Amino acid sequence: MLIGVPAETMAGETRVAVTPETVKKLAASGHTVRVQSGAGIAASVTDAAYQAAGAEITDATGAFGADMVLKVRTPTDAETALMKPGTVVIGMLNPFDAAGLQRLATAGLTAFALEAAPRTTRAQSMDVLSSQANIAGYKAVMIAADKYQRFFPMLMTAAGTVKAARVVILGVGVAGLQAIATAKRLGAVIEASDVRPSVKEQIESLGGKFIEVSYDTDEEKEAAVGVGGYARPMPASWLARQQVEVAKRVALADIVISTALIPGRAAPTLITEDMVKAMKPGSVIVDIAAGKGPDGVGGNCPLSEADKTVVKHGVTIVGETNLPALVAADASALYARNVLDFLKLIVTKEGALKIDLEDDIVAACRVAQDGQVTKQ
Ligand code: NAI
Repeated sequence: MLIGVPAETMAGETRVAVTPETVKKLAASGHTVRVQSGAGIAASVTDAAYQAAGAEITDATGAFGADMVLKVRTPTDAETALMKPGTVVIGMLNPFDAAGLQRLATAGLTAFALEAAPRTTRAQSMDVLSSQANIAGYKAVMIAADKYQRFFPMLMTAAGTVKAARVVILGVGVAGLQAIATAKRLGAVIEASDVRPSVKEQIESLGGKFIEVSYDTDEEKEAAVGVGGYARPMPASWLARQQVEVAKRVALADIVISTALIPGRAAPTLITEDMVKAMKPGSVIVDIAAGKGPDGVGGNCPLSEADKTVVKHGVTIVGETNLPALVAADASALYARNVLDFLKLIVTKEGALKIDLEDDIVAACRVAQDGQVTKQ
């Protein structure tokens, strides 16, 4: 099969959908891989490295003109126009963006959104949400450490003792767990909150403390179980109690990393303006949910601004919306392996396309085919 890999054009997108490692495997399976010149540069991969792995170097028209196009971000209008009907496109295609999916369907593309894969053991190796959220959690801590004008670890020096930083993590999915692990390695004292009580053990095993909030009604207990591992919106009664507990910890914190998300909905508000006002000067918030708050404004903190770092009430608030793109080489390496593993489900050993809708991963990821939006 002829596989095209364009350079990403979205602002700030540094990742690329194949690496020399995955190109080599695709070429060994008999595919022809055409990579757009410069596609890997921001992720530290040269055209020469792709060529050495067996790829041909092409331009945008050549990459989008292939039978199958491997992308990181969903194609723009201009990119969609470069693909012929029937082209298979695979990437992070925003399965909750109905208008975007309709655009892909109208163009006659066969589209697979990798974010829609179920969170099952078999899908783990192609789980782009996990591979990229893990990086986001790590980088959030790195940025916080950079902005924070004190040490993370407790230090006893001849010039006096320095206290360990207090870190609060809000939302303990993949990103939150990696943030706990990374902050712990730096010597911070960590507390964390999530709606799902099942994360308590995971937090404790990483050396953090779970912020306990009781579940008082059947409705609260049921909502806390979530669905498919994901959180569901919690009843207002529980959120009010959570806010009281979280507010006490945030007021004492030096760093807050918030990652709380509910798929397909606005991110919950967990750090109000009053809570920011109560924080110590010089504290840092990294809001991984920035840009995903109600009506796209704010994130878990209404004061965060997408893709900006602002100082409000003496607190530095980082609203970077694409943290994995700031670790471009490893983010691409992991993403490219996710893509390669997904391809094994839809391409036969002989190199032919075979879309088996009996396969739950294939069926979940397929979002457009034959002019129709097919999202499940
Ligand atoms: P996510 O990015 O959708 O959400 C981040 C976290 O925010 C979640 O832990 C969620 O419970 C939490 N959250 C939502 N509302 C909140 C609130 N009001 N207050 C505090 N926290 C709140 O989650 P992610 O990282 O995508 O993980 C989702 C689930 O998938 C997890 O249960 C994870 O363990 C599971 N998973 C399973 C895998 C597998 O079995 N293959 C692989 C990866 C993840």
